[in-house]
Amino acid sequence: MSIHLQFHRRALLGAPLLAASAPAFAGDEFDFDTPYDRYGTDSTKWDAQARIYGKDAIDVPMGISDTDFRSAPVITKALTARVRHENFGYLAIPQSFNQAIIDWNQRRYGLTINPANLLLSTGVTASLISGIRAFSPPGSKVLLLTPTYDGFLGPIRAAGCIAEESPLRFRDGRYQMDLEALDRHITRDTNTLILCNPNNPTGNVWTKEELLAVGELCTRRRVVILVDEVHCDFVTKGQKYTPFASLENRDVVMNSVTFKSASKSFNLSGLKSGWLFSDNPEYIRRIAATGHRVDMNTMGMVASHAALTGGEAWLNEVIAYLDANHDYLEKFIREKIPLMKYQKAQGTYLAWVDVTALIDKIGAEAQAVQAEKLRTGPGRPITAEAIIRDYLIREAKVQILPGTNYGHNGVGHMRMNLGTSRKTLTRALNNIASALARLA
Ligand SMILES: Cc1ncc(COP(=O)(O)O)c(C=O)c1O
Repeated sequence: MSIHLQFHRRALLGAPLLAASAPAFAGDEFDFDTPYDRYGTDSTKWDAQARIYGKDAIDVPMGISDTDFRSAPVITKALTARVRHENFGYLAIPQSFNQAIIDWNQRRYGLTINPANLLLSTGVTASLISGIRAFSPPGSKVLLLTPTYDGFLGPIRAAGCIAEESPLRFRDGRYQMDLEALDRHITRDTNTLILCNPNNPTGNVWTKEELLAVGELCTRRRVVILVDEVHCDFVTKGQKYTPFASLENRDVVMNSVTFKSASKSFNLSGLKSGWLFSDNPEYIRRIAATGHRVDMNTMGMVASHAALTGGEAWLNEVIAYLDANHDYLEKFIREKIPLMKYQKAQGTYLAWVDVTALIDKIGAEAQAVQAEKLRTGPGRPITAEAIIRDYLIREAKVQILPGTNYGHNGVGHMRMNLGTSRKTLTRALNNIASALARLA
């Protein structure tokens, strides 16, 4: 029986359609410690990987960036109440939803959004297509500070544009912007830069000074800054998120558009809801004029509304829990996985792990060259980091993602998603430690 069929049989026979292993939500404390079984829900992180690699091939998938926790009870309650009304006809989005977004940004980040300059969306990725189309004609270049989120490539392609990598430099223990290189990458056919803060996958939380510097350069060179702040709630202890729209240089702020959603903070990525805003009404008008569609669904709206109006206590606990996961990983790798290195991220729940020594140890470079020679089908080039991914799936049953997915200079690194229970994280790390100990 094919893997695909085996998996579906399991889904049909054994697993619940919606993870029914969940205890009743009413009155529960927030529990991030008990591993939560997501199999049987068509999740990308668990089910799709089981379909690709086989259910028993992976103990812990740590790929796609979502979290494994049960939703905030306030969200489940709101959705359940809505489901009880058994009609799902067309949705008229109430003004109170826009107000909830405005209030959340004001309360949590001290940011004032003019309601006239707020557009709803079905998520950051979808709305970036409109953002790029508004300013970058087909065939022109969209700048990325790499390594950065590979999901930007889809919207860039959808807009008919070309991604142009301007590499970050690793200096003094941290990735830094190289503004001279960025300046050189800007040519007459460069109209937009996508800036990710906090940056997936390196975990940079850009300082006010760094944001101003890149903002001033782009503004001087007439490049519109599209700022993705979807990870903004996940900043680790001692770090501070600066909303781009709060910068003191008015010209820089007027030259930017910010894209957000509740999909990382509250793990609502399957429910497709988000928003974008700019202080510059002309930029909003141009985005709206691209045919930007707000096909938001009822459940996404209900869930985001509940999250933004009542989910803050839950979110604060998740942030603390994931911050501790970063600490735990840093200590575990230092003590038990000598072939890897990890320095705690400033933000996101993603860890950017240095695997240079492991690449050398198993000769992954040479294996990649060989595999690339034999490759016949389309897809990403096979890199040493892709060899490490396959090696860890085979030997440790843990899936982490190749750093080269995020730009050419992602070499020597892997991205590990820490959005899971400590127990699941421990299982993954023990598996990796045992597998790599066998190499000694
Ligand atoms: C930087 C970044 N932007 C956007 C997204 C996707 O956002 P949305 O679900 O709102 O489209 C992700 C998801 O991983 C991300 O990491």
